[in-house]
Amino acid sequence: MSKIHAAITAVHGYVPDYVLTNKELESMVDTSDEWIVARTGIKERRILKGEGLGTSDMAVHAVNGLLEKRGIGAEEIELIIFCTTTADMPFPATANILAEKIGATNAWGYDLQAACSGFLFGLTTGSQFIESGKHKKVLVVGGDRMSSIINYSDRTTCIIFGDGCGAVLLEPNEEGYGVIDSILKSDGSGRPFLHQKAGGSARPASHETVDRNEHVVFQEGKAVFKFAVTNMAEAAADIMERNELTAEDVTWLVPHQANKRIIDATASRMGVGPEKVMINIEKYGNTTNGTIPLCLWEWESQLKKGDTLILAAFGGGFTWGSVYLRWAY
Ligand code: UT7
Repeated sequence: MSKIHAAITAVHGYVPDYVLTNKELESMVDTSDEWIVARTGIKERRILKGEGLGTSDMAVHAVNGLLEKRGIGAEEIELIIFCTTTADMPFPATANILAEKIGATNAWGYDLQAACSGFLFGLTTGSQFIESGKHKKVLVVGGDRMSSIINYSDRTTCIIFGDGCGAVLLEPNEEGYGVIDSILKSDGSGRPFLHQKAGGSARPASHETVDRNEHVVFQEGKAVFKFAVTNMAEAAADIMERNELTAEDVTWLVPHQANKRIIDATASRMGVGPEKVMINIEKYGNTTNGTIPLCLWEWESQLKKGDTLILAAFGGGFTWGSVYLRWAY
């Protein structure tokens, strides 16, 4: 019997309707459309508005669309891995909440936290359950309501992030399509540069943490940029080398959308031209766990069976990595 790979058999996404433009940000902080576009490539991002709505509510749209496309019911899902940095609540897991909301009554699930690299970590761990034969239908969801942890008076972070969610279905494939290889890394010494100071067990919420505005993203952009630009590019180049792939072999680079300059550096390190790079950062900004599945969703109609995809990401933690995927449909 040939080896079982975990193939993506359906993908769908969801972004909220509200568009936060660079122009609107100009009225909120001391910034300009020119600066944001030149330094990040972002023109607008989506924001989830509405009392009581969380990341799971975006996931419901993404997953229902996916199930309809694949023509299966939610009760057929066996496992949900929910990759997110903005869980609906500290517990229970957003995977549980989503399962209940979509009617995935036979699924178990868990949340996975690896900041902006979360979707690659989730895709890789989800694949193990397929490759081992344990499960036949695994849902990997990547999404974040970043607006819930952004300080909209901090111009260094509020211009970057947006809300959105994407999801893929993994199923067994014995024809050599699916997740072929992955390189995943983490280095906790990077945490001073990108983290949320309060709200965890080390610094629980208090009047003081709220007064000091510590329940939001803190980032030293320059330091993160330096690590991101080298590590994301290295991870992408390493997975190509390890699998003897040339730039010509690569059909698409699917990069995490944090900064257009980081994406360009990764493509250039791989020797891949801009026509092979999925970029939608101008529309959505950095949706953290949502960026890669949202790209797959947007480019789905252009993908062909057998296409070689290199996925690459870098995020807080630090975490980073790459995945080599052969598209299955
Ligand atoms: O996805 C998770 C991983 N995160 C990332 O990959 C993000 C990595 N970092 C970045 O993308 C970039 O560092 C930023 C986009 C966050 C910042 O761009 P930068 O080119 O590194 O700018 P900088 O922090 O070096 O700041 C340059 C100047 C500073 O002014 P001075 O000190 O030179 O006078 C900033 O105060 O730009 C200023 N600045 C701004 N000006 C207008 C910072 N933010 C803004 C702003 N508008 N929004």
